[in-house]
Amino acid sequence: MFLGRYCLSLFLLVSLGVELAYANHPQQEEHQHQLHHLYRYGDHHGYPGIHLKPIERAASHYQTVFVDPSGHGNFSTIQSAIDSVPSNNKYWVSVQVKAGTYREKLTIPYDKPYIVLKGEGKTRTFVEWQDHSSIVQSPTFSTMADNVVVKSISFKNLYNNDKNALNMLPAVAAMVSGDKSYFYDVGFYGLQDTLWDDRGRHYFRFCFISGAMDFIFGSGQSLYERCTISVNGAALGPGIRGYITAQGRDNSKDTNGFVFKSCNIIGNGTTFLGRPWRVYARVLFYNTMMTDIILPQGWEPWDYTNNVGLITFSEYGNYGPGANTSQRVSWMKKLDSSTINMLTSTSFIDTEGWIKTQQQF
Ligand SMILES: *[C@@H]1O[C@H](CO)[C@@H](O)[C@H](O)[C@H]1NC(C)=O
Ligand SMILES: *[C@@H]1O[C@H](CO)[C@@H](O)[C@H](O)[C@H]1NC(C)=O
Ligand SMILES: *[C@@H]1O[C@H](CO)[C@@H](O)[C@H](O)[C@H]1NC(C)=O
Repeated sequence: MFLGRYCLSLFLLVSLGVELAYANHPQQEEHQHQLHHLYRYGDHHGYPGIHLKPIERAASHYQTVFVDPSGHGNFSTIQSAIDSVPSNNKYWVSVQVKAGTYREKLTIPYDKPYIVLKGEGKTRTFVEWQDHSSIVQSPTFSTMADNVVVKSISFKNLYNNDKNALNMLPAVAAMVSGDKSYFYDVGFYGLQDTLWDDRGRHYFRFCFISGAMDFIFGSGQSLYERCTISVNGAALGPGIRGYITAQGRDNSKDTNGFVFKSCNIIGNGTTFLGRPWRVYARVLFYNTMMTDIILPQGWEPWDYTNNVGLITFSEYGNYGPGANTSQRVSWMKKLDSSTINMLTSTSFIDTEGWIKTQQQF
């Protein structure tokens, strides 16, 4: 049961898209012919035609399903909408989620690519759960497929609330392990291990990430742009210092790393910018505002005191009371300008144009 079709301006294209999602349809050949004509020559509604690659093309006639707990949509839970997407789906499906708080644990499995998960705003559409202990088991939201867009929604792991904060445990709000994943206007709330940026290339834009302990961690190759990082250091109790990042690059040839560009770091308590989860950890803060919650030494070597030379922790062009680097650890890396340019350009995560495609949604 996956017959929903949503009229954009082009009913024909939409229905063709649905048909094509089901290969071997008897009328497929004729439809394909019409489709070919439309792509090649455009149509009368301003559809440009020609030069569109398959996925870009798909973006212009994607299908939408609605999640609304009041019963007026196609599904009342988000997971049931995701479940309705066929395995190895080749066309974008947009799952639009009404404002509200959803008590669900969500997974986009690795065989369901091309999903757009879209709420009505990160302060209006919330998904929350409170699993804990293991990072693998605890995420409120896990996305494993390639080509996923998440917009205007927040994920919370509520386990480490005020009551549990002093016996804090790993409690992940979101785990991202597919390639080519774009998060726009998304909130992540937790305390320890909030955002597991596991692996793959990811672009986080206008996101909000809250936590205190290693709360952005993993081996993702990610650009965080214009995001707010909110440190809830007060929840750790007096004298306990937090860590924003715990990056997991473990080989000098790995291309992963976390780059924070034009972000804001706010909050309370005191925090390091990061510690290495793996010995080749790579993190750059660039053009970012830092309040005085950042400890003057900035970074910690964790288990790698004897290998600090392998770690790439760097800062460039940051400002605000926490950005003074005069007392930073001696092993903080000074990157040359071509490396800085490489890391802070979107080409660090995208040389084939996937971000542009995904920004159409
Ligand atoms: C989804 O809901 C919309 C309107 O709410 C309707 O037009 C469409 O046919 C529904 N699709 C499915 C799959 O039920
Ligand atoms: C600290 O900041 C967090 C947001 O990150 C907020 O929820 C909390 O109330 C703040 N605590 C104090 C004591 O200000
Ligand atoms: C940075 O801190 C050092 C000492 O901690 C101080 O001497 C210096 O003036 C500060 N720089 C700025 C730009 O505030």
